[in-house]
Amino acid sequence: MSDPSLADLPELGLVSAKDGASLEALAQLAERCRACDLWERATQTVFGIGPTPAPVMLVGEQPGDREDRAGEPFVGPAGEVLDRALRDAGLDRERIFVTNVVKHFKWRPSGKRRVHEKPTKAEVRACAPWLEAELALVRPQAIVCLGATAAGALLGPDIRVSTLAGTPVASALAPLVMATLHPSAVLRAGGGDATRAAYERLAGDLRLVAERTPDARYRVPD
Ligand code: URA
Repeated sequence: MSDPSLADLPELGLVSAKDGASLEALAQLAERCRACDLWERATQTVFGIGPTPAPVMLVGEQPGDREDRAGEPFVGPAGEVLDRALRDAGLDRERIFVTNVVKHFKWRPSGKRRVHEKPTKAEVRACAPWLEAELALVRPQAIVCLGATAAGALLGPDIRVSTLAGTPVASALAPLVMATLHPSAVLRAGGGDATRAAYERLAGDLRLVAERTPDARYRVPD
């Protein structure tokens, strides 16, 4: 094959995934992706991580500051909340595929800090084939959209995460699809009852996923 335009890499990734490419091969392709401008200010592409196939796929918005440096999704403060909620729900992160809608960190400077900026619809669209490629490899029984960006990208703009506690969404993407709070919503809730309620919402939705996907739960040693 002749050298494809770097803007076309997401489509090439999707075709390769459908042809049986490995996660590593896809991640390598995605490292060179130039389908939008976010790569320019990001340290690296942060591709999804986890087994393929996997019983559960978690989808966040985009890597944050820590993820951008580490090259892995959900390893910063939001990741700590997510890990706790997964443990409380009985889900084993090692058995789960974790990724984001957008694979580059979008940020603006604020003093010495790099502050998260929401991706535009065009940036989400440019990255969509990578997510579709991951889905083709993971073939999950359950998908959990973490927050509105993931829910919008996978389920359409009319989904209201706030009204869906404990309620699966009808979707052809997987037998069970949930749209729940993003872990960073727990961090931003302001403390006290609001923080507890936000955390319970997240952990409660993950508990429902654990009930329906025994293969994603911690194994109890015999
Ligand atoms: N927020 C996300 O949506 N994804 C990450 O990987 C980290 C923070």
